Amino acid sequence: MSLNNEILHCIHERRSTRQFTGEQISPEQLDALLDAAIWAPSGINSQSWLFTAVQKKETLLHLNELVREGFQHWVPDDDYAGNLRAIREHTQKEGYCFYYGAPTLIIASNRPNYANAVADCACALQNLFLAAQSLGLGSCYINQPHWLQNDKPIRAYLAGIGISEEHTICASAAVGYIQTPSPSPARKEGTVKIIC
Ligand SMILES: Cc1cc2nc3c(=O)[nH]c(=O)nc-3n(C[C@H](O)[C@H](O)[C@H](O)COP(=O)(O)O)c2cc1C
Repeated sequence: MSLNNEILHCIHERRSTRQFTGEQISPEQLDALLDAAIWAPSGINSQSWLFTAVQKKETLLHLNELVREGFQHWVPDDDYAGNLRAIREHTQKEGYCFYYGAPTLIIASNRPNYANAVADCACALQNLFLAAQSLGLGSCYINQPHWLQNDKPIRAYLAGIGISEEHTICASAAVGYIQTPSPSPARKEGTVKIIC
């Protein structure tokens, strides 16, 4: 790559963190992350997303128990069907934590019956991941609440923290300080074409 600047560097350096220290991020950092999220593009400038930052430990632990339980009854889509047994076994292991023990979990949801719901939230979370990287924080895309969005006990619990049962649960982000940096996966060949 011949050109470089802070943002391009940040894009290259960001990794999915799966081992966090227990230290909570500051209110200013959380504010900056959420601000980065809401400045993402959205279809026809919809901005119909909701970012719910959960930092209360009991809430996160309870959600983890509901996720473990939810996987017992989960019916996956085609992408994951072949791995169902392995996923079920993995989620029942002692110490399983779908958000890797991160001190902050940000759940991105969006209004129902909106075709760009997940796309908008994914753009917003990438902004958030890059903002986290720029602030020296680690982050990881977390899909379990999305997979289990039709799980009734999970939806009831999320409704209790203000996420409407009508909303699509699009994606989540685990954020915190990095304990162990993740390796950088090599780029696959042949994924870019230039027609000129
Ligand atoms: C749509 C999507 C879903 C993902 N879901 C998860 C997840 O549930 N748990 C997880 O640990 N990582 C998840 N990831 C992170 C990927 O595993 C990760 O981006 C990939 O392995 C490349 O590593 P890197 O982010 O460090 O470059 C997800 C990423 C995307 C884009």
